[in-house]
Order: sequence, then C-alpha cells, then structure tokens
Amino acid sequence: MHASLKINKLRRLFVGLTAVAAAAAATSSFAQLSDDAVRARVDALMARMTLEEKAGQITQHFVFQEVPKEEERAAKEVAAGRGGSVLLLKTAADINRFQQMALKTRLGIPLLVGFDVIHGFHTVMPVPLAMAASWDPAVAQEAQAVAAREARAVGIHWTFAPNVDIGRDARWGRTVEGAGEDPTLGSAMAVAQVQGFQGPYIGAPGRVIAGPKHFAGYGASIGGRDYDEVDLSDSQLWNVYLKPFKAAVDAGAGNIMSAYMGLNGVPASGNHWLLTEVLRKSWGFKGFVVTDAGAAFDLTTHGYTRDKPEAARQALLAGVDMEMTKPFDSQVFAHLPELVSKGEVPVAKLDEAVRRVLEAKVRMGVFEKPLVDEAEAAKVLADPAHRDVARRAAERSFVLLRNEKQLLPLKGSSLKSVAVIGPLADSAVDTVGPWIFAQNDAETVTVLAGLKAKLGNKVKVDYSPGVSMPKRANKSIFPEPKPVTVDDGKEIARAVQMAKQSDVAVLVLGEAQIMSGENASRSSFDLPGRQQELLAAVMATGKPVVVLLMSARPLDLKGLAPQALMQIWYPGTQGGAAVANVLLGEVSPGGKLPFTWPRNIGQVPLHYAHLQSHFTHAMTERYWNEPNSPLYPFGFGLSYSSFEIQDLMLSQPSLKASETLKVSVKLRNTGARKADEVVQLYVRQKAGSSARPVRELKAFRRVSLDAGATQTVSFDLPASELQYWSAAVRRFVLETADFDVFVGNDATAKLAGKFQLEGEAIARP
Ligand code: BGC
Repeated sequence: MHASLKINKLRRLFVGLTAVAAAAAATSSFAQLSDDAVRARVDALMARMTLEEKAGQITQHFVFQEVPKEEERAAKEVAAGRGGSVLLLKTAADINRFQQMALKTRLGIPLLVGFDVIHGFHTVMPVPLAMAASWDPAVAQEAQAVAAREARAVGIHWTFAPNVDIGRDARWGRTVEGAGEDPTLGSAMAVAQVQGFQGPYIGAPGRVIAGPKHFAGYGASIGGRDYDEVDLSDSQLWNVYLKPFKAAVDAGAGNIMSAYMGLNGVPASGNHWLLTEVLRKSWGFKGFVVTDAGAAFDLTTHGYTRDKPEAARQALLAGVDMEMTKPFDSQVFAHLPELVSKGEVPVAKLDEAVRRVLEAKVRMGVFEKPLVDEAEAAKVLADPAHRDVARRAAERSFVLLRNEKQLLPLKGSSLKSVAVIGPLADSAVDTVGPWIFAQNDAETVTVLAGLKAKLGNKVKVDYSPGVSMPKRANKSIFPEPKPVTVDDGKEIARAVQMAKQSDVAVLVLGEAQIMSGENASRSSFDLPGRQQELLAAVMATGKPVVVLLMSARPLDLKGLAPQALMQIWYPGTQGGAAVANVLLGEVSPGGKLPFTWPRNIGQVPLHYAHLQSHFTHAMTERYWNEPNSPLYPFGFGLSYSSFEIQDLMLSQPSLKASETLKVSVKLRNTGARKADEVVQLYVRQKAGSSARPVRELKAFRRVSLDAGATQTVSFDLPASELQYWSAAVRRFVLETADFDVFVGNDATAKLAGKFQLEGEAIARP
C-alpha cells in the first residue's frame, strides 16, 4: 500500500489527533523513494550479512569525545564492523574519519550518524520551551530547518529530537526541551519540528531524520526527579502524554526514542504494548526505534531482566530496533547472535530491526555520500542567515509578564544611562542554555553585549554581575559547576550604586544553564544564590527596574514585583540582540506561557486542564495559606499594545460527527502600536462517559495587528477534535453532549458560547 494511503487509513483509526497535526500530516510524506526500491537494496545487503554484522548494524556507539578512552573504544567497535551508528561526533573531520573506518569493513556499510540537535547545532536557537512560548509553530519549523542544515553539512543524519514529553512539573529539568503542559500546543510544536528537521521527505537535502522522544510518559516522573518511575492513568496517557507522539508519527517522523523509565510498572524500553501494539500496530509507525542511551542495559537495572542477554532479547522482542549504548560497558545487543543461534530469538525478528536501520540509511543517501566536504560544511555553519533566524525566534519567544506604567519599551531618545545587573547578563554559556555541544561561545550575543550594541555611544551602559552563579566547568553532558570568584557582598553594594546612578536598572536573573536539562531537576523555584537579595536591594533604590528571567522554569520572586518582568528563557546565540530589539521597542513581545505559573513550588503540579470534583471548588477550595489559582495562567503574556476580543460567532448551534464547526471572533488592537496577540480557543464537554477537564485548548493563532486595526480570526473545529479516550469504556469516544467554547488570550478566557455535538450516545457500562 502507498505510504501516505496507509498512514491516512491508520489515522482514521486514531481519534485524538489535533487539527494542526492533521493538517500538517496531510502535507508531509514519510519518504520519497518507493518502498520496493528501498527493500530491494536492503535485501541484497542483508543476504550477505553474518549474524554478528547484523547485531553490529543495530548497535549505536556513544562517542564521548571528552573521555578519550571512550572514543577509542567506539572506534575499535566501528572498525571491527560492530557498529551501525555513532552519536555525538561534532565535526565534519571526525565524522569523515569514523565513516572511513566503516567503509573499510568487510561490507563497507557507512554509519548513520546521530546527534542531539535539540535547539540548534552551531547557531543556537532559543530552547524548545521558548519556541513553544512563541505559540507560532512556524518559528519552531524554521529554527529546526536551520539546525538540520548545519548538522547535515557536517555529516549528521539524524537528531534525537524533538523532545515531545509533556511537562507538567517544572521541578523536572527536562521541561526545557519540551513544549510545556498542553497536548494541543505540544502536538503543533511536535509536528512543526519534525517538518523542520526532515523537510518534505526522509532524505531531503540539508535535512535530518527526526526522532521524537522519550516514548512515553517520561515527563510525569514522580517528584520531578529525573529517571524516576512514572505512574500514569490510561486516561492521562492517551489524552495527554501520547498525543504529541501520535502527531509526530503522523507527520512522518523517521525515528522514535524509547524512554528510560518504567511506565506503569513495565520499563518503556522493554514494553511490548507501547512499542509494538501502540506504535507499530495501531499507529502504523514505519521508522526505527532506538533506545535511550543504555536503556536496554537498564532493563536489568529495573529488576525486569536477569542479565544482559535477557535484556537484549526483551528489548528486541518488545520492538526496539537499535540499541544506543552509553559510554561504559552497557552493550547488550552484542548477545543477539548467540541468542539467535540458541533459538531464543527468531532470526526474523533480528532481520526486521536490521532492515529498518538499513532502510533509514538508504533513504538518507548514506551509501551514495558517506563523506562530507569539510570546507563546504564550514561555509554552511558561517551562514549569517542562520543568525537572523535565531534572533527572530528569540524575539518571538519572550513573554512579558508585567509592565507597570508602560516602563517598556524603554524610551531610547530620553535614555542616558542603564545599569545592567545580574550573573546571567553577560554569560554566553548560560545564554545558549542546555543541550548544546557545537556552538562557539565567542559568537553568542549576551544581553549586555546586545544592549551595548543597540544603544551605541549615546547611552552609558554599566555592568555588574551583582552576585555569583555556578558555571559549567566543562563540556560534558552533566557538567560540574566551577567555583565562582565574585564576592557577593561587595558586588551587591556596587550594583546598587550603579542602579542609583542610572535611569533604569535591567536585571538578568534566573538559573544557570546547568540547572535545567537532563539530570538537572530542582526542588526549589527560588532564585539560586543571593539573587533575591540583589533584586530586593536594587528595587529599594526606587529606580525603575526591569527583570529579565533567564530560565526554563517558573521562578518564585517571593512577592517582589519589579515594574517590568519578562521571561526570556535561554534565548540562544542571538539572545542579547533579540532582548535589545524588544526592550527598545523595535519589536513588541508577543509570546505566551506554555505552562501554568504557580505561586510557589508547593502548588506543583498545577495545570489548567484539570478535573473539578466538588461544586464549591471555585469559591472555597484553597490551600490554607493561599489560593489554588496560579500566579499567571497558561497562555498568559502581555504586549506593548492592548487587545479586545469580541463578537464570538459559531457557524451552527449543533454539529454531527462528520462536521466542522467554524468559530470566529473579532480581534481589535486597541493600543497605540503594532503588536501580536495569540487568540486561544478552549472547549469544555459538559457531560461524558468519563469526567471531562474544566477546559482544554483546541486551537490558537498568533496574529499581528496594526494599532487600531480589527481582524476577524476564525478557527475550524472539526468534531473529531472533540474525541477523547474514555476510562469508563476504555476506548476513544465522540459523544453526544453539550459543549462550552471559550475564546480569549489565556486559559481564563471569558468570552463564551455553546454548541451541541451529535455523536454516539454516552454509554457507561
Ligand atoms: C538522554 C537522551 C539523549 C541521549 C543521547 C540520554 O541520556 O536521555 O535524551 O538523546 O542521552 O545524548
């Protein structure tokens, strides 16, 4: 069956797909080469392979260049034909060197080269959570296309991204890699990133295979602790956590990475239900599955398998196609030849995995062009157009949270002096954020550098770090902090002096890059170190204060409310230039929070799409010491203008299961300047076979409007969007019910309408 026909057929079987994802899936195809042509080439190769060569083909070696022995070990394996893939080599020269080794093996099969291209390669884009905050999937698509171009130029074929884990607990450090708490926003960002990385088909020039991860549920680890277990209801799993994965698969993702943790008692990387029943059989995934690094070995760590051979057998039979090893002796697939010989693993199962990996190589053109031109690669990395994309992406990702008395934008004409304060204001390493290995720190524009460049000689710009902040000491994946030398007490006093002598103080506060990412959870949302004291001291001067928060978490300023507050995330290579453009008003901020911002960490997890159990909830339920409500709702963000959303119109009062409701509103820019607003549409099903959340985001659009202009913003809401997995009947349903619809500019939207859906009768057992 033709690939896209098959995908369409399977799509009809699955019912929780978002409109955004569906539209995208319809335009992207899995592959350009015909299945038959690919199969013929792979068959010919496989006929010549020994069992050992087959096991090697589905083994990926971690090349940890910071640990010289590990590189040697990986090179030895590749040269001996026991490696089909490597990860984390970052230069064209190194990749060519490894490819040459592979080409000299008996069959000369080149390597498939993988890398964590999470938010840029050489040019660093804002972190993925920031791109989600743009509420503009085109931003993510364009940024990842640039990342793919740079990566492919040095010989990388495949990225371990996008991370499509839903993050509802910001203690978990990896929320930085995802798109926040919501499955609709998450699905839209998943699809956009898959398309950005892969382009129109797998193997398109200048593109790489996308590997959505970590399948599935990793974001729900208990206590926000990385690698901890996950215990999710089926309802949460289907309606929230699996949705972005399904959308990414429908968009044609060529790879999926299985997660480390246990999912409801069974390790994800040995989970037959997840990897075979759901992913392959129900969703029709055609690509290959790789484990997370060392996750096949970890089946034994989980207490799930007895030893390495059993771990290999279980991972392969569950549906893993390739083992990603870790930089220590964690390899298990090397046992497959002996397991096949003993009859413990059917050779057909091994062949299936080998076939999928070789197919990926054929589709990527790895056989035709195993080596890259190093000079050409250098030119691609230096392309100035890439920096423009990074700057625009950052500008669109900032979320303005407070702007009392319109402090922002700063009035460039009357400004004489600015005090730039804070440990993150001039830190290139922190500005790019985590999951970055191939950048040039010297090229990164910090906030201080961006402001200085923008303000030129006419404005005096002073700088003090204010307090110390732990820094990355090396480039390892889990870097150690390096001792800092700032004398906090003296520096706070100096910063205060500086603020007193300036027209405005711009503080860049937040978390060091090493406090987010893998193995970087936090049990506090306080500003690390003595930053709170610094902020209080500068605010006490009475000078206007702008706080820019650099973090991927909601931070707790403990009641301090600076005149202006803007979340700038980890904004990437061009972060400082983007900040300057926004602070000086060249660009109006228009991003929105991709998560609910709690008052403090005690409220976590806190998300808007919750179930409401008791009728007094809205009035009386509270913590003893404070309300249940967040500090800032999901979807919230200000701009330099103001907007009105009115005249909600629905195309019909009721709709059938096959129909599409059109919802429109009038958006008016009521302020004095051009700006963006994100119009958001939420629905609530009022009764169902299972309880339904108080509201759920179903559609959104970022619109740019001139001062005084009005625009009709319309959304198509197909009835299929209203399907959900009902725990009572254990399947997806589309039920006859009354619905509320809300349209506004955050999750508390008040403008409301009603409609009815004629679906199946609500059937409870
Ligand atoms: C992470 C993955 C990553 C892999 C390779 C693992 O520790 O969990 O997300 O892709 O390492 O770097």
